[in-house]
Amino acid sequence: MTFSHSHLLGIEPLAPTEITTILDLAEQYVALNRREMKHADALAGLTQINMFFENSTRTQASFELAGKRLGADVMNMAMQASSIKKGETLIDTAMTLNAMHPDLLVVRHPHSGAVDLLSQKVKCAVLNAGDGRHEHPTQALLDALTIRRAKGRLHRLNIAICGDIAHSRVARSNILLLGKMENRVRLIGPPTLMPAGIAEFGVEVFDDMKEGLRDVDVVMMLRLQRERMDGGFIPSEREYYFRYGLDAEKLSYARPDAIVMHPGPMNRGVEIDGEIADDINRSVIQEQVEMGVAVRMAAMDLLARNLRARPREVLA
Ligand code: NCD
Repeated sequence: MTFSHSHLLGIEPLAPTEITTILDLAEQYVALNRREMKHADALAGLTQINMFFENSTRTQASFELAGKRLGADVMNMAMQASSIKKGETLIDTAMTLNAMHPDLLVVRHPHSGAVDLLSQKVKCAVLNAGDGRHEHPTQALLDALTIRRAKGRLHRLNIAICGDIAHSRVARSNILLLGKMENRVRLIGPPTLMPAGIAEFGVEVFDDMKEGLRDVDVVMMLRLQRERMDGGFIPSEREYYFRYGLDAEKLSYARPDAIVMHPGPMNRGVEIDGEIADDINRSVIQEQVEMGVAVRMAAMDLLARNLRARPREVLA
């Protein structure tokens, strides 16, 4: 098994073999999670702290469950209502954490780069659960595992990522991962929601859904991230749905066996038609949630192995 990192901050530093290592181990945890007895002891005796500076339901629950199934002591710190509001800096938070001796720290933060900064100040393994518009590595890994199981491979696929690319850390991590695994990635969305300079990432860009979806194997929809918009990025939600919302007609341009994905939370009737989201023959959205727990178990297991093999001072 190859995985040489102390933290999981993004997809960017990972080699393709390391991505495969995480996914292969996650497969074992998928099997464990389907059993009645779901306990393993890879994190026994370790302390996992979840710090979410942004609201989250599924990602936080997924990390919590993953830690508990592997035997860690898991604690959720309610950062919304806490000392940050009272003016504590990220560095002071790090000092406080060090005194509690956690082994794994799971962090979501509204600012790109904040999780990286924190990882330089704490003496434990840090997992990025989403930082601003930057990266959301475990989401891209769970998406990759879902695709690999549905399509039987994770290379040479045509994959469309659709919608609000500009505000999406999910899109960014997926573009990096799918590119590293040698897939062809297309981005589809209005020009106002396409980041500048995106073509440098080796992707094809479309502003028409039917054209962009032609013959793709995977259709990945994104939520319209209203909370990150400060102006008129789209004319109206109705107009957006008309042009970019995934409905049966637009989906008919993709391959007949194309799968439909969404990281959640979904806005039904804005970026996706509810019936397509619920269609068990096309949608793998529930499977994505299941893979999320397994991938997080695998990532924490691998980081814990490296933590045990190295003196902590290295992390300081
Ligand atoms: C994503 C996120 O937070 O970046 N959601 C998630 O992790 N399940 C995508 C989103 O919020 O739209």
